[in-house]
Amino acid sequence: MCGIVGYLGPLNPKDVIVGGLKKLEYRGYDSAGVAILDGGLVKRVRAEGKLRNLEAKLAHESFDGHLGIGHTRWATHGVPSERNAHPHQVGGVSLVHNGIIENYLEIKEALLKRGANITSDTDSELVAHLVAEQVKIQKDLLKAVQVVLKELRGAFSILVIWDQQPDRLVAFKDGPPLVIGLGEKQTFVVSDVQAALNYTKKFMYLEDREIALVQGTGVQVFSSAGAPLQKPVVELNWNADQVEKKGYSHYMLKEIYEQPHAVSSAMAPHIDATNQTVRLSKVGFGGAGVTHLESLDAAKDWEQTQKIFASVNRVTIVACGTSYYAGLVGKYLIEALAKIPVEVDVASEFRYRKPVLLKDTLVITVSQSGETADTLAAIRLAKENGLQTLSICNVRNSSIDREAHGHLYMNSGPEVGVASTKAFVSTLAIFNLVATAFGQARGQLSLGQAREQVQALLAVPSQMEVVLAYDKYFADAAEDFKSFKGFLYMGRGVSYPIALEGALKLKELAYLHAEGYAAGEMKHGPLALIDERMAIVMVAPSDDLFEKTVSNLEEAKARGGKIISIGTGENERLKSISERYLGIPKAHWSTNPLLEVVPLQLMAFHLADSLGHDVDQPRNLAKSVTVE
Ligand code: AGP
Repeated sequence: MCGIVGYLGPLNPKDVIVGGLKKLEYRGYDSAGVAILDGGLVKRVRAEGKLRNLEAKLAHESFDGHLGIGHTRWATHGVPSERNAHPHQVGGVSLVHNGIIENYLEIKEALLKRGANITSDTDSELVAHLVAEQVKIQKDLLKAVQVVLKELRGAFSILVIWDQQPDRLVAFKDGPPLVIGLGEKQTFVVSDVQAALNYTKKFMYLEDREIALVQGTGVQVFSSAGAPLQKPVVELNWNADQVEKKGYSHYMLKEIYEQPHAVSSAMAPHIDATNQTVRLSKVGFGGAGVTHLESLDAAKDWEQTQKIFASVNRVTIVACGTSYYAGLVGKYLIEALAKIPVEVDVASEFRYRKPVLLKDTLVITVSQSGETADTLAAIRLAKENGLQTLSICNVRNSSIDREAHGHLYMNSGPEVGVASTKAFVSTLAIFNLVATAFGQARGQLSLGQAREQVQALLAVPSQMEVVLAYDKYFADAAEDFKSFKGFLYMGRGVSYPIALEGALKLKELAYLHAEGYAAGEMKHGPLALIDERMAIVMVAPSDDLFEKTVSNLEEAKARGGKIISIGTGENERLKSISERYLGIPKAHWSTNPLLEVVPLQLMAFHLADSLGHDVDQPRNLAKSVTVE
């Protein structure tokens, strides 16, 4: 998940680009760079770490050109370093990229066979090589890009410039957002509008597989086949509140769209980028207390965490509502990766049911607010019985955070919408990290398996952006919901808690009755509910349980049930039995839940909004239930 800025116009590109990257730094900040025309060539400056490191380098640089591109990176392929920072340059071609090139290995192999001198570990550099090859043949940047675009698979937003045509910039995308800001005799191409808002409020949104040629004082957009396209220009007239919502109609929608960033922020502190494994950071089991975490010795702290993970023999996860469903996902992950028994309980039951609390149990609480009364009571009960406790929360120094021995943070930023979204997916990312760390500490995961988990996690932000790009389909599917009397959300395995969460979103936002069920339970009762007015929302990724899930769907179909299914890629089997089919990118079984939940969030949001409900503050609910 990275930030991209491109500029062509009379202003100083260095100021415009760096200013824009600052607005996008939340999208990724492990390295940054610019490539700007100077003296007829494209001069590149890059720096590892925060944007301020690049600014320090640029303080001594000047550029006489009026064309440039810039990038702030969140590493997916290749460790954070100057060598892997964008822009990538091959010959006179300079390029920045947000996303993932899925077929990068075959591209790399072919390039090496053609003698390419590949200098980084990134997939992005390979695209620069492809464009550099093509400009020699096509003698034109746009034509070169049109050829290269056909070779790429994955999720990508790309800007490219060439010093032989210094009056133009070419942009193309398939997945992650790319927006064109139309100024007075100047053009901006950015990942998010806020990177250009200081200069213009007129924007054009690129759709997937479209190519933009920014030249002179204007822009032309083409289909991937080269047909010129007429694109609508949107004028954003934002008020202060909307700026706070970044132009989104509701906080909840903004927070749904922040999820790729929320997930990368949750993971970033805990991934050892050099070894591509998990190294939980500043957890504090050693008793430092929540106010001293920053001063902890990292190595000793990590050692202490591993000692706790190796010494306990069971885990109990306690939470409420959406956080409880995140805990259910955590159960599947920790049991599968660490081979340790995990119990999950709603806090309001746990605190009163006189649970059997054994000393070798780690109690993990999940709470976005860190103030939920039942969850706070649960962590106190665990501590009174001498158990180790670990809090996963979004608010540092909150009551639950202060009570816990160990501390992990969702790092999602303030979640204003009462219906929890970005905190939920961040918690799923944290549970992936915890399960992997548990597995490593207990010798249940090899280094290779741990790396597989980390690679799967690193891919999630870009995969999420691909899912978000299909929001219009989810809004259309939500319209279908108006004709149903009841809703059964179902899934198997680690998708079952996602079905529960999807049902909760519909309940708390659209005020419609929905039930979440384990799909294997259909024959034990719910099948009696099925008729043509019952909607079945089935979460059915292409995992080990897919065949069983599809047979559950066929049972419901045979009884007249109307099916909305979520599956991996273009799944013809699911399409053939579904009224609506929503595809998500192919992902690891342990990260599917982070992608599956997004369509469910958006369908509930759009339905509630079309029903005229107060989506950010649903009736009868509060953001934090600080009383029993
Ligand atoms: C979720 O959309 C609801 N807002 C609610 O279920 C919430 O998850 C629950 O109240 C727990 O809140 P917490 O995460 O702040 O403890």
